[in-house]
Amino acid sequence: MVHPRAHDMIAAVRHTPQFQPGRYRCFDLRPLSGALGAEITGAALDRIDEPLMSEIETALADHLVLAFRGLDLSPEAQIALARHLGHVIPWPYAKPMAGYPELTELVSGPADINNFGGSWHTDSSTFGTPPKYTLLYCVTCPPVGGDTSFANQYLAWDTLPETLKAELEGLRLVHSTKRGFGDHSRGTGSSAVTTTPVSVPPQHEKLASAHPVARTHPVTGKKALYVNSGFSSHFEGWSEAESEPLRDALAAHGAIPEFTCRVTWGPGTLVIWDNRCTLHYAHNDYRGQNRTMRRAVVEGERPY
Ligand SMILES: [Fe+2]
Repeated sequence: MVHPRAHDMIAAVRHTPQFQPGRYRCFDLRPLSGALGAEITGAALDRIDEPLMSEIETALADHLVLAFRGLDLSPEAQIALARHLGHVIPWPYAKPMAGYPELTELVSGPADINNFGGSWHTDSSTFGTPPKYTLLYCVTCPPVGGDTSFANQYLAWDTLPETLKAELEGLRLVHSTKRGFGDHSRGTGSSAVTTTPVSVPPQHEKLASAHPVARTHPVTGKKALYVNSGFSSHFEGWSEAESEPLRDALAAHGAIPEFTCRVTWGPGTLVIWDNRCTLHYAHNDYRGQNRTMRRAVVEGERPY
């Protein structure tokens, strides 16, 4: 099998909507990089209506990651916004926020060593129907540090050599809880290293789901590379040892800097991203500081 050769194909990589953003009536939009992401200003998230949600979904399809600034978003308002995007599901690996079963409060404290999401991943790809959207809201954050990077997996797929793409078509990759929260984990799932305790319930300990390596987005119809270093275990029918070289090469390819944008958080920043066509990475560079985020996730469809 041909391996991805990043140096051959990233010249002049760009995601067209970043350079040709659409016109919106409900807000202003500024792209964050040549690859993906946009900052939204002027959206009245306290008065959600159909035209606003329609434009948000269009902007998500075009830009994959949307950052809203300076909000004062209550837990109720965050849940309401998430519900406009679909069925909001609880995250089973941590206690929900008190009084809000649909929200998880991710708290990092001064003594924490590791952080939440400190590897390139897409949320809960171990699920049979992984979440399509994540809505992460910043309550408090350090004055510097704790950014989140995102990577466009349409670009990751598009820039693979054609011969490799042909071999990957039809190949399925198993995403395993054991890898995400087991020995391979960089500590993101350990209650010993984060202020918010995280534990895997017994029924999830062996949870694993096989998904296509090339995933078709149900809205855009485009193919995205669906491989991540956080949860991807082995190709269906291959051992983990046989899978490792190609799996890791594809995961590294998906995180090439030219495919990324980086969001700096502030109190009141909300970011919505599409897990079906992006990876994200939470930067762990704020040791000794406090950081509190609230997360809601919206159920997706079975990848195909
Ligand atoms: Fe995540």
